[in-house]
Amino acid sequence: MNEMLSESFKPAVQGLTNPGPSPALMKNVTCIEDLRLAARRRVPRAFFGYAEAGSYSEQTLRANRSDLERIRLRQRVLVNIANRDTSTTILGETAALPIALAPIGIGGLQWANGEILACRAAQAAGIPYTLATLSICSIEDVAAAIEKPFWFQLYVMKDRGFARSMVERAIAAKCSALVLTVDLQVPGQRHIDIKNGLSVPPSLKLKNLLDMTTKPGWVCRVLAGKHWSFGNLRGYLKGEQSIKAIGEWVGHQFDPTLNWDDVEWIRSIWPGKLIIKGILDVEDAKLAAQAGAAAIVVSNHGGRQLDGAPSAISMLPRITEAVGSQIEVLFDGGVRSGQDVMRALALGAKGCLLGRAYVYGLGAGGQRGVATAIEIIRKELSTTMALTGIRRIAEIDRRVLVE
Ligand SMILES: Cc1cc2nc3c(=O)[nH]c(=O)nc-3n(C[C@H](O)[C@H](O)[C@H](O)COP(=O)(O)O)c2cc1C
Repeated sequence: MNEMLSESFKPAVQGLTNPGPSPALMKNVTCIEDLRLAARRRVPRAFFGYAEAGSYSEQTLRANRSDLERIRLRQRVLVNIANRDTSTTILGETAALPIALAPIGIGGLQWANGEILACRAAQAAGIPYTLATLSICSIEDVAAAIEKPFWFQLYVMKDRGFARSMVERAIAAKCSALVLTVDLQVPGQRHIDIKNGLSVPPSLKLKNLLDMTTKPGWVCRVLAGKHWSFGNLRGYLKGEQSIKAIGEWVGHQFDPTLNWDDVEWIRSIWPGKLIIKGILDVEDAKLAAQAGAAAIVVSNHGGRQLDGAPSAISMLPRITEAVGSQIEVLFDGGVRSGQDVMRALALGAKGCLLGRAYVYGLGAGGQRGVATAIEIIRKELSTTMALTGIRRIAEIDRRVLVE
């Protein structure tokens, strides 16, 4: 364990003085879609495709968006909506907005040191950031580079020793919540990742090399960043430690036996707040509440797991109705605007996790890109509150919807 920590604490954060393109370059970005298009230009095809795609035929990915867009907001007028306040609490802590950044695997391959930069942008905006187990920067890299606690997302893999060590490292890094992701016992297939030859570290096949020559900024930054593989695994695997071996280890470690007893085990070794992420069913939500979770995230992994599952937003109302009085219900899946945040809150969510909305910002412009994504959503939410006659987040409920 100590060996692993000292290995991981080695400097990993070159290039951090450059938070991204100049403010002028980000000036013409007015919505998340602009960030998506900029990310598509700047990030190699394999990693942009990884961020963008859903599993199989992408029905659930599409449903996440289309079901959100179908929800109509109720226009109200002649309400004094001066001095609006977008702040709220998430898990008892004040947050400037009812949003947090979702865990995102290999964020450091969207932009060098992407996890540290995204965490900084989130903390500067006053919202929680979640570091993924399968990040490029390790938990210690991030803890050493930022000032406030962040959330840590855990995959419980076949090697329970790894899960235990990650929990110990999250405690040592003073993480303020553990986000246990439970909807990935087996990985769903994203066709595009296979076609693009996605791999960690990046595959150097001719096709990928040719593509990288069109993204010189990315190549320079990622090469300067020095890390191209899973940071939390650095130093963990004894003996076989080549980057390729680490990638293969991860590929075989998702655990089909995972069950509620494992959640109990995690509860016994993690003393802090537990968030169970990947709940899409009322029965599972009730079990999560019984298991002692402080919160759940209603989520279908952004349409990346069970294709054919309902959209996350369509399941949110019945889940909040069933457990909303016992635990906090967070939501993700398809949130691309402040209007979407309003829709989810109206249906009972305490807050939303941003996934692709911020990943596009990261690929488009590093820390500035993530800050821009958050600021776009803040402004949209504030305007949407005004036009629906709402001054405080706590006032948002079904009355802001046209049922
Ligand atoms: C590129 C990418 C990587 C992701 N990696 C993880 C991960 O490592 N762990 C996890 O719990 N969820 C992961 N997710 C799911 C997100 O945390 C979140 O549930 C999802 O992105 C929400 O949908 P949205 O992207 O439409 O907002 C990932 C999602 C994307 C897009």
